[in-house]
Amino acid sequence: MCGIFGYVGNRTAAPLLIEALRTLEYRGYDSAGIYVPQMGVIKAAGPIDNLAAKMPLELAGTSGIAHTRWATHGAPTEINAHPHSDMSGNIWIVHNGIIENYREIKEGLVMQGIRLVSETDTEVLAKLIGSLYRGSIAEAVHDALKHVRGTYGLAVMHEKEPGILVAARMGSPIVLGFGTDGNYISSDPAALLTHTKDVLFLEDGELAVVTKDSYEVRTIAGKVLTKQPETLAHDFEIVKKQGYAHFMEKEIFEAPEVIENTIRGRLLPEKGRAKLGGLESVVQEIATLHRLQIVGCGSAYYAGQVGRYMLEEFAGLPVEVELGSEYRYKKNYPDKKSALLAVSQSGETADTLASVREGKRLGLRTLGIINAVGSTIARETDAGVYNHAGPEVAVASTKAFISQLTVFALITLLIGRERGMKESEGKDIVVGLKTLPETLREVLALAPKLKEWAKEIATYDDAIFIGRKFHAPIAYEGALKLKEVTYIHAEAYAGGELKHGPIALLGEHFPVIALAPNDDVYEKMVSNIEEVKARQAPVYAFVTKGDVNVAAIAKRVIELPKVHPLLQPIVSTVPLHLLAYYVGVEKGYNVDRPRNLAKSVTVE
Ligand code: AGP
Repeated sequence: MCGIFGYVGNRTAAPLLIEALRTLEYRGYDSAGIYVPQMGVIKAAGPIDNLAAKMPLELAGTSGIAHTRWATHGAPTEINAHPHSDMSGNIWIVHNGIIENYREIKEGLVMQGIRLVSETDTEVLAKLIGSLYRGSIAEAVHDALKHVRGTYGLAVMHEKEPGILVAARMGSPIVLGFGTDGNYISSDPAALLTHTKDVLFLEDGELAVVTKDSYEVRTIAGKVLTKQPETLAHDFEIVKKQGYAHFMEKEIFEAPEVIENTIRGRLLPEKGRAKLGGLESVVQEIATLHRLQIVGCGSAYYAGQVGRYMLEEFAGLPVEVELGSEYRYKKNYPDKKSALLAVSQSGETADTLASVREGKRLGLRTLGIINAVGSTIARETDAGVYNHAGPEVAVASTKAFISQLTVFALITLLIGRERGMKESEGKDIVVGLKTLPETLREVLALAPKLKEWAKEIATYDDAIFIGRKFHAPIAYEGALKLKEVTYIHAEAYAGGELKHGPIALLGEHFPVIALAPNDDVYEKMVSNIEEVKARQAPVYAFVTKGDVNVAAIAKRVIELPKVHPLLQPIVSTVPLHLLAYYVGVEKGYNVDRPRNLAKSVTVE
């Protein structure tokens, strides 16, 4: 859950490393550091600005490694910040992941009289590499990794071999980049885009030895591999704020274009069907499944929950939704006619990846809904759908979430039409999807009203979100976003669940955000809102245009357009994302870099 970067070439390395860390900062931002042969190591606690402020005026060296951290072992201090070194101070390492057997290795090193200065697992690896160094940094890394259990994406350099960058991968992403002025390594291709689009993704168990004009990929055991670079699709422009105050704001307002990109070339209006190239090879298999298991974490898990309602309601396919961190360790009883569908924006979330591998171990067909092109889960699943939402930079997932819901609608249409959904229903859904971008532009125009709500909601310490059926998981998503970027203690419940306990919390200082679209459980939601009102809790309700019942009892209402029930959850999500954003800004927080969080959770 850290960001690492490396460069070896002709350019002055330090400014280039700092710039890359700024792009990677969403992966972790509690401390950072760089190492440049001939210039030395510089580290700082806190965001990249603190590190940049410590750059010397005189910069030297045309190679180096860099790291931005999300602490797992040892507090976010300067001592624990990366890079870490061996005893000689010549070997430096940056690492993303967890060395699980670092305590055993440490005991052995301490017996040899080796002293450690930090609390990190990574420094143990640096000391181990140093203890095995015999003149070749690449060989020393090879030898050391044979003793290591755990996950890593790492880069290592030696003061006396400034032209050599060694990188290795086991569980945490590493991509090589090949430029005209040198070569690069990174945790994420986004940080390479200003330099090159020619990249090569390392697989688990691979190590690369990179110089300014060559690279060699080997297995950890030492076998040389022949691997060809590929060219990335998107450009750097897309990972800039483009005039918005925050990436989160930009990514919320990108909603209409995101839907257009997600559905482009995937609808057959004349047949009322969908066409998903990445699932073509398995359509009949999925259409005849007895059951589909969806797995994801955080927002992706909630998207899976909405997907379940869609597939069960409109495609007649029984679905179970599992948390990645539970599915990977619990006893699973899949029958032969079921498949596993992983949902992930980053495609690198460790618990979701491990669940895919568990699914494979159980002999299941594994599928993916993934945003990050070329990511590990995308490469390890048998088939799947890319979101085409573009790189998502803000830690709080917004555009990827609504794109995930849109892909679920496309899969529901694809499978539903194979499982008895009428052509007319299919055509209605196609029309709904094609008009959705325009509908979302209408919803985004409600921003000023949401800003007003935000001023009020920012004054509360707690909040509860409620919704029913398709909108129960949307309530969870709304609460998650408010938690992530405002630190308000927000919870969510299916509307009917309140009276079984949570209603005890309510009172005038406990606002309830209610999702009450005019759907087949609307009446039930109205009675839930009346129960809440009866406990003096201020109700902020999202209703369908022309609603009068809820408007009569709620403190505030916002009217939303009515669309096809399959797509209504997408319309209801955008204002919740905006509300969380405005409350976070109102409270003066860094909404793009919420405390204690990171964009891609690559450790468990
Ligand atoms: C959502 O805003 C959070 N960033 C987090 O819950 C996220 O959804 C979760 O970590 C899953 O990430 P993924 O989609 O990249 O797998």
